[in-house]
Amino acid sequence: MELGSLADIPSDYTEHEAASAAEEWRLRGLSEHASIASFSRFSLELMRFAAHPSLIEGAHLAAIDEARHAKLSFDMASHLRGISQTGSKIANEGVHIGDFPVSDVRLSASLSAMATRTFEEGCMGESSASARLVFAISSLQGDSPSGAVMRELLSDEARHAALAWATIKWAVLNGATLTMPPSRVKQDQILNSAASKPAPASPFLTWAGRIPESATARLHALVNDAWVVPWIQALLTGSEVLAVVNMPKDKFGDAVAEAARLVHEEFNKFSFTTAVTV
Ligand SMILES: [Fe+2]
Ligand SMILES: [Fe+2]
Repeated sequence: MELGSLADIPSDYTEHEAASAAEEWRLRGLSEHASIASFSRFSLELMRFAAHPSLIEGAHLAAIDEARHAKLSFDMASHLRGISQTGSKIANEGVHIGDFPVSDVRLSASLSAMATRTFEEGCMGESSASARLVFAISSLQGDSPSGAVMRELLSDEARHAALAWATIKWAVLNGATLTMPPSRVKQDQILNSAASKPAPASPFLTWAGRIPESATARLHALVNDAWVVPWIQALLTGSEVLAVVNMPKDKFGDAVAEAARLVHEEFNKFSFTTAVTV
């Protein structure tokens, strides 16, 4: 993927901002790289509990997605690091990736434990990541190279979130039990928090795809309370998951609603009506 030209880069950035954006994409790359192993472990867990083949297929495809995400993120880091050092592109210096700590790989002891882990890592983690990507894309200025990268990440992360939700649905149908998470924040608190103004991001960092920590925190709270809690409660009681409603009428509410819509669309593609006998 071509990461854009120097003509697209805003002129009012500092050396520190460019280095900081490069470091953020490097860290994102390391996190994406670690996700490859997470999905490999997840596919083993699904096999262990004789999961529906569509879930196992989704886990393997997601691992391949994460390998591509790691490469894209490292490419972005190199691109931005070049800008920070010289004001012009430099050769990709490569990124050091340490050995994988195989001693950390532990499979869940029961279907319920696997479902709980999937809820925490997949439903909460990937749903929140999808909302952050929608928000970051909507905040981009100009013809940033981050745009194409983040749109590709969004379409994949929405599918990964849907895979996690579909796994919960399948696990509950097969007897898994989860402790329902309490709603940490009441609806009126969500609306009040969304009304306060976030600190403005620097134009360069926005161009490079970063969103402020205050925005991340607000998105996370909205995802949890308006999306994740209602969906897990629906699945645990055998109901259908529905579109998120009563969202604040602002960029945060719009981002969470759009991410939930994308995930819902992917979730509806999973069907467990075909009986499988192994
Ligand atoms: Fe990813
Ligand atoms: Fe992912």
